[in-house]
This record gives sequence, C-alpha cells and structure tokens, in this order.
Amino acid sequence: MHKFLIILGSGYTARFLLPPASRQYAHVFATSRAPDRHLNHITPDRRIRFDLTQQSTWKNISTGTDLLWCFPATPPDLVQKFAVTLDPLSRRLVVLGSTSAYEVGGSREYPPPWIDETAPIDLTKPRVQGEEFLRTNCGAIVLRVAGIYGPGRNPIDWIRTGRVSPSRNYVNLIHVADLARICLATLEHGKPGEAYNVSDGTPRTWREIHETVSQHLSSASPAAAIDQQPGKRISTVKLGESFGPIIRHRDLYAELVKIEKE
Ligand SMILES: NC(=O)c1ccc[n+]([C@@H]2O[C@H](COP(=O)([O-])OP(=O)(O)OC[C@H]3O[C@@H](n4cnc5c(N)ncnc54)[C@H](OP(=O)(O)O)[C@@H]3O)[C@@H](O)[C@H]2O)c1
Repeated sequence: MHKFLIILGSGYTARFLLPPASRQYAHVFATSRAPDRHLNHITPDRRIRFDLTQQSTWKNISTGTDLLWCFPATPPDLVQKFAVTLDPLSRRLVVLGSTSAYEVGGSREYPPPWIDETAPIDLTKPRVQGEEFLRTNCGAIVLRVAGIYGPGRNPIDWIRTGRVSPSRNYVNLIHVADLARICLATLEHGKPGEAYNVSDGTPRTWREIHETVSQHLSSASPAAAIDQQPGKRISTVKLGESFGPIIRHRDLYAELVKIEKE
C-alpha cells in the first residue's frame, strides 16, 4: 500500500474518490480553501487548507506525497511558481484537465472526427497552459476528462433547464465513479508526462440522449434545439490499452434512470 495522497481541490469528484483512495493509500488528505466549511465529511486530521492563489498555504502540501489535482490548473503563472515547490521527482502527480482543451477550430465536419491525445490543443486557454506546464516540466499525468455526471449531477436536468438543447451536437460523458477509479489507476500505473482522454467511450448526440430518455422519463421537456455545433467525439483507445476494461458505467440510460430515482 502507498503511503500518502493529497487531493488538491475537494469538490464533486473528490467526494467519490475518498473511499476507494483509502483502500490504495494508508493516509488520504483533502484540501479546501475553506476546510472547516467544505470538508465536514472528513475528519479534521485529514483536512488541509490550500488555495493556489494564497502562497502562504502552499507549505501545507508536504513533499513526497502523491498529488491528485482536481481543480482547473490556472492561472499559469501561479501554477508554475507552485510547481517549483513540488519536488516532482519524489511523487506521482495526476492533474484533471478537460476535453475542452482540444482545438476544433471552426470545423463543421459531421459527424466530427475522433479526437485522440495527439490532436491539437488550444494553448491560448490558461488552464491548458497550466496543465501542459505540469505535464512537460513536472512529469504530471494529465487526464482530459469528458463531462462528469453521477448522483447529484444529472444530464437530464441540463436538458430540462435549457442548459443544453436536444441538438445534433455530440457530447462525451463519464460517470464519476469510473472517473474516480481511473484517477487511482493513473496514480498507480500512468506514465509520467502522458495525457489520457477519459470518457465512457460512447459519444452521443444530445438529441439521442433526449429521445431515449423521453421513452423512460416523461418529465424531460427540453428547450428548442438551437445548437448546431458538431461537438467532439473523444477517443478512449489509449485509456483502454493502458488500463484495460476500467469503465463500468457504459449504459448511460440505465445510470440516468438510477440517478433520477435517487
Ligand atoms: N464538471 C465537469 O463536467 C468537468 C468536465 C471535465 C473536466 N472537469 C475538471 O475536473 C476537475 C474536477 O471537477 P469537479 O467538478 O469535481 O470540480 P469541483 O466540484 O469544482 O471541485 C473543485 C474544488 O477545487 C477547489 N478549488 C477551486 N479553486 C481552487 C484554487 N484556486 N485553489 C485551491 N482549490 C481550489 C474548490 O473547493 P473549495 O471551495 O473547498 O476550495 C472546488 O470545489 C476540475 O478541474 C474540472 O475543471 C470537470
């Protein structure tokens, strides 16, 4: 068993990471900018105050611990300064990025081409600059993560509230429990300096999701379809080749029905 893991930024994903992480690490700590308010679900001895924008809190991240970075790695200048304090050779560092890193330009090709980890990324985005600095200079492993869903984060609500419309736009999703398992597998087996796409492997259009969901759940009444972007189709070939059959939540519709019932 490994010794120490610190989860930097303990929001939605971190809540699902804590139980499995405790089986892989003897000691798991979680950070927050306001630990007394946001980390009540864990014991005080495992709470750490950390704010990337408050340099005085950086010393709370002890050397030698593995790190799982779960908030946007920006602004880039602070990411770089903080990274200098990290002693990357003595630890494993996994950073959660986003599939929004991929630059698709104005392409209207439809269906959109598959995007693997070699596709161009948009280095004008500050968080992409931060992630790439950590990957290329500190041996960080960057996970480019699709839309995260799970209990309390229900894509059907995004349709109901009009946040998304039932368009032909492709979306890539990952269940938070699978993401948690992938984070831990990456800490254990990921190759330093690599990037991996993370999604359930099945891009779907919002229209397909809406139509299928409507057959099961009558209450998903959407806004009009106005979004005519092609979206992205994220390839997870590398993820599968590197970590084996790690996705357990492949049936989006079964998962959505479960989430609706909770
Ligand atoms: N949500 C999605 O669909 C999605 C998709 C792709 C990628 N991602 C990425 O995946 C990661 C995890 O997502 P999530 O939805 O679990 O995140 P989340 O719920 O927003 O949790 C991240 C936590 O990090 C802490 N934080 C924010 N800014 C910070 C800073 N400057 N310094 C230190 N801590 C800070 C906040 O907690 P405190 O307020 O307690 O400090 C926040 O709750 C994020 O990087 C996100 O951008 C998300």
